[in-house]
Amino acid sequence: MNLKRTLKGTGETENFAKEIAKDLQNRVILMNGDLGAGKTFFTKVVAEYYNCDDTSSPTFTLHQRYEGDITIHHFDLYRLKSEYELDNIGFFEYIDSGDTCFIEWADKFNLKDELEKYTEITITVDNPNDRTITVTSFGD
Ligand SMILES: Nc1ncnc2c1ncn2[C@@H]1O[C@H](COP(=O)(O)OP(=O)(O)O)[C@@H](O)[C@H]1O
Ligand SMILES: [Mg+2]
Repeated sequence: MNLKRTLKGTGETENFAKEIAKDLQNRVILMNGDLGAGKTFFTKVVAEYYNCDDTSSPTFTLHQRYEGDITIHHFDLYRLKSEYELDNIGFFEYIDSGDTCFIEWADKFNLKDELEKYTEITITVDNPNDRTITVTSFGD
């Protein structure tokens, strides 16, 4: 997969996330983009697509697990200080599990070296309602 789109408004982001949701199944998705770019928004649309439980947790932690038609692991590494902490939460076991994994702020750490294949999603903010998204798969 190698896509680039301009997404005008959350509706277009929602449609696009649903459009590619099937291609993200069982993959590790490294997500990058500024705070408020839409990484969480995108992940939640995919979770919804797979009929996962209500994913809006008021106390979002480092790792959330969503169960539905598939299992999704959602990581937010924003507050993580060191790569050691990844080991402590069993991060690499989840990554190797074959479940679908979304990782926000993936670029903080050298995760690409640890992965044989992954999909990279980068979101940039064009203006308050518009985003540019690139989706690129590596390793297969
Ligand atoms: N085109 C768009 N695509 C995605 N989010 C958008 C868009 N336009 C506005 N937004 C808003 O941007 C915010 C993105 O927040 P969030 O997903 O939490 O960002 P991040 O996880 O990258 O920090 C949401 O409030 C969403 O409603
Ligand atoms: Mg987020």
